[in-house]
Amino acid sequence: MTVKIAPSLLSADLARLDRDIALVEAGGADMLHLDVMDGHFVPNLTFGPPLIKAVRAVTRMPLDAHLMIVDPERSLDAYAEAGANSVTIHVETGYHVHRSLQRLRALGLRAGLALNPGTPLELASELLGDIDLLLIMTVNPGFGGQSFIPATRDKIRRARRMLDNAQSQVELQVDGGVKIENAAELAALGATVLVSGSGIFGRPNPAAAIGAMRRILS
Ligand code: DX5
Ligand code: ZN
Repeated sequence: MTVKIAPSLLSADLARLDRDIALVEAGGADMLHLDVMDGHFVPNLTFGPPLIKAVRAVTRMPLDAHLMIVDPERSLDAYAEAGANSVTIHVETGYHVHRSLQRLRALGLRAGLALNPGTPLELASELLGDIDLLLIMTVNPGFGGQSFIPATRDKIRRARRMLDNAQSQVELQVDGGVKIENAAELAALGATVLVSGSGIFGRPNPAAAIGAMRRILS
């Protein structure tokens, strides 16, 4: 399976977003990962639908919104209207995750479910039929540039096994501390989408970083 590369805009130059978006699009990124943080679920605050709408206007890449917000069900429609293609909610954030996932699909979006490093994989097991993407966090969410948590390797491996056993086509995304150096290992563990912020935008040439990651993966 071809492994997809999703640069995270969080590590781009926020004063020159259009330039950085064009760089990774030209570099062959498969999608753009957009980290929405509310200062409650995570101790950091970023952006919401208005910025996603602005990004939509300057790129053809699929937009992958990662919602690190409490009560995500209140704003799912706004992310669809802003032009997101996939929206991932955290299993830890909602009383009615199943309902939210169904709403995402009803809106025509790909539905994603994310798990923090400390959250058991089993919390996703009843929802495999309702998702298009399973996101295993490999750092505690909130900031770019953190170190990959080694214990999450085994969780990725178990997630791969769980999806294969269910004969599921759900994408397995990993996010946090993903770099050129560990991309091959994460793909071998079974990840199919690699989110990378500082590993791409933190390099002198983000397009070349995507190229290097792609070569390592092939
Ligand atoms: C962390 C975010 C990530 C972040 C990853 O909460 O979900 O998407 O941008 O950044 P790096 O790749 O620098 O660890
Ligand atoms: Zn993210």
